[in-house]
Amino acid sequence: MVPEFDLGESFNLLHDPYPLFAAHRARHGVFEGSVMDWSKTPDEFRPEHQYAAVSFDAVNTVFRDSKSFNSKIYDATIGLFIGPSILAMEGQLHRAHRNLVTTAFKAKSLKAWEPEIVRPICEQLIDEFIESGRADLVRDFTFEFPTRVISKLLGLPEADLPWFRQRAVELISYHVKYQRAFEASAALKDYFTAQIDLRRSNPTDDIIGDLVTAEVDGEKLTDEEIYSFLRLLLPAGLETTFRSSSNLLYLLLTHPDQFAAVQADRELIGPAIEEGLRYETPLTTVQRSASVDTELGGLALPAGAVVDVCIGSANRDEARWERAEEFNIFRKHVPHITFAAGEHTCLGLHLARMETRVAIECLLDRVTDIALDTAEDPHIVGQPFRSPTAVPVTFEPIT
Ligand code: HEM
Repeated sequence: MVPEFDLGESFNLLHDPYPLFAAHRARHGVFEGSVMDWSKTPDEFRPEHQYAAVSFDAVNTVFRDSKSFNSKIYDATIGLFIGPSILAMEGQLHRAHRNLVTTAFKAKSLKAWEPEIVRPICEQLIDEFIESGRADLVRDFTFEFPTRVISKLLGLPEADLPWFRQRAVELISYHVKYQRAFEASAALKDYFTAQIDLRRSNPTDDIIGDLVTAEVDGEKLTDEEIYSFLRLLLPAGLETTFRSSSNLLYLLLTHPDQFAAVQADRELIGPAIEEGLRYETPLTTVQRSASVDTELGGLALPAGAVVDVCIGSANRDEARWERAEEFNIFRKHVPHITFAAGEHTCLGLHLARMETRVAIECLLDRVTDIALDTAEDPHIVGQPFRSPTAVPVTFEPIT
């Protein structure tokens, strides 16, 4: 049975989970309980043994100790919507599968994607709103650009973008409207299968083409493995990137001195991206299960216990960062754990960083005097996925 929040205080988990994380961290790096809100989940669906890792060390240990912890729990959650994917695999199966899909994310491709795909898409989106002198940067920019980037990287026909965008939104909203997500998942399967078929007879230079031809030690990916991986890219690659770049823009706009420093010195874009990823982690919590009876942070965990791996809390661990509760792009660089660690380390981390850098560079090149319109009370919200409700801004085009 999972204990409810046990610290005797009331926390607004959706608005700001960080005080709850800090309160737990101050007591233990690992505790029996959860950082998620289980209040609406019927008892029979709650794990029998539930723990949470909240210190940096504990989170890092769980990610790296793949003998004691596995991610098979995804089969019963997001796996229901995307199919069997790399995320839930382990050991040799995971390594073989990861080697195959990695061929589609090689450094050479990344280098070409920046000028050929990512920058033109950012420019095109800015063209669409620049004349009006105002925009909601979430609706008009940060959601749309990773959607268009993924669609282009996959090599989907331009005319399919509205259909693809709609199915992507439906799939990533699986926790809110699961029936619609199942339908989107089935539609995406049919759509991707047709795209795979096209490339089997006529190979193309795009991610689907690379996945169709990928071969490591005589092994190739099946159609099901390919379309499941492609569906995984929507929550893994689109949603996280849209949320993290929105968070960064919001944080810079609400810290005008730091924003002005970035405008004056583009070398600060890199540190700003890392600090944004640390301070407002787009995905604050993932789960693992104990594969065997084990020990974590001095607690004995039975095999099968579910562990909340609280990346958001790890990233604010005061034992690792000075004044960890402050957003400060000038801080000494100490690596965060936003992209996880160990075997399942994010496969798209270089792409995500490049997309965010290019988006910020393009904005700074094209507009000035950007100010957040606070009338709508925009704010960052959500758990485990976090991002701003909106980023409404006014600005002057640079002519
Ligand atoms: C800021 C943006 C991103 C964040 C914060 C992020 C975060 C993460 C995290 C935390 C994991 C590990 C999940 C777990 O083990 O439970 C992960 C895995 C993964 N990510 Fe990302 N991600 C981002 C962008 C991307 C992009 C752009 C792509 C590709 C287009 C991508 C593809 C993947 C894949 C395929 C995995 C599974 C790797 C494996 O299981 O071996 N991610 N990501």
